[in-house]
Amino acid sequence: MKLEIKGLHVSIEGREVIKGVDLTVNEGEFHVLMGPNGSGKTTLSKAIMGHPAYTIKAGDILVDGTSIKDLSTDKIAKLGIFLGFQNPIEVEGLGVINFLNTARGAIARDNAPFKEFMDDFKKNVASLKIKEDLVNRPLNFGFSGGEKKKVEILQMAMLKPKMAILDEPDSGLDVDAIKHVAAKITEIRKASNPGILLITHYSRILKYMDPEYVHVMQDGKIVREGGKELIEEIESKGYKA
Ligand SMILES: Nc1ncnc2c1ncn2[C@@H]1O[C@H](COP(=O)(O)OP(=O)(O)OP(=O)(O)O)[C@@H](O)[C@H]1O
Ligand SMILES: [Mg+2]
Repeated sequence: MKLEIKGLHVSIEGREVIKGVDLTVNEGEFHVLMGPNGSGKTTLSKAIMGHPAYTIKAGDILVDGTSIKDLSTDKIAKLGIFLGFQNPIEVEGLGVINFLNTARGAIARDNAPFKEFMDDFKKNVASLKIKEDLVNRPLNFGFSGGEKKKVEILQMAMLKPKMAILDEPDSGLDVDAIKHVAAKITEIRKASNPGILLITHYSRILKYMDPEYVHVMQDGKIVREGGKELIEEIESKGYKA
């Protein structure tokens, strides 16, 4: 899958937040998006997913050459685009297993027998070091910040998207959890080769992974692009340099 963002302008409540962004992520590529707080990274990710609060004023978002900017979020998800949220929402009354089992049918069109699903599920829960009792609770309900983040990556592992946008999957994770999450993302890359756009503030998670492209967003625009060396530079000098 090829995801192309072309000349994109996005407004929220009448205020322009994304001010002309061009960004292409091809299948199998690993891109990192960095940028100061409030620069528009989450807004960009939500606009790609067709969030109704974010209005596309100009430009386009294309998947394999076809515009998705007027599609609903569920249709975009069914194309194989996954968003791991910066702040996952708590869902009362829907357990983790139930949620994932429904989502794999509805979104990933995965009709494998339930036993196969559960085997895969248990393997992922174990390698992500997710506490067993968590999976019997309503999705994200009362989960700690780090637990919510791990469950986002669990969803990605189970749904096997063609394109994954991960909004700060490392925020709030302890040093060991960062390694487990990075290892899982690397494993998913090897198994199904999705395109990845990972939003982060810190180089720590990237010590365990190998991103190929780095983009820096500032005030709704991509202001710098390069390779992994940009991450270290930003970490030592900040965005003002
Ligand atoms: N629903 C909304 N209503 C009003 N303003 C919004 C809304 N969502 C985002 N914004 C504003 O848009 C700007 C960009 O926010 P966004 O969440 O995209 O930043 P970010 O780059 O993800 O920052 P961070 O690194 O802190 O997560 C901010 O000024 C924010 O206050
Ligand atoms: Mg954000």
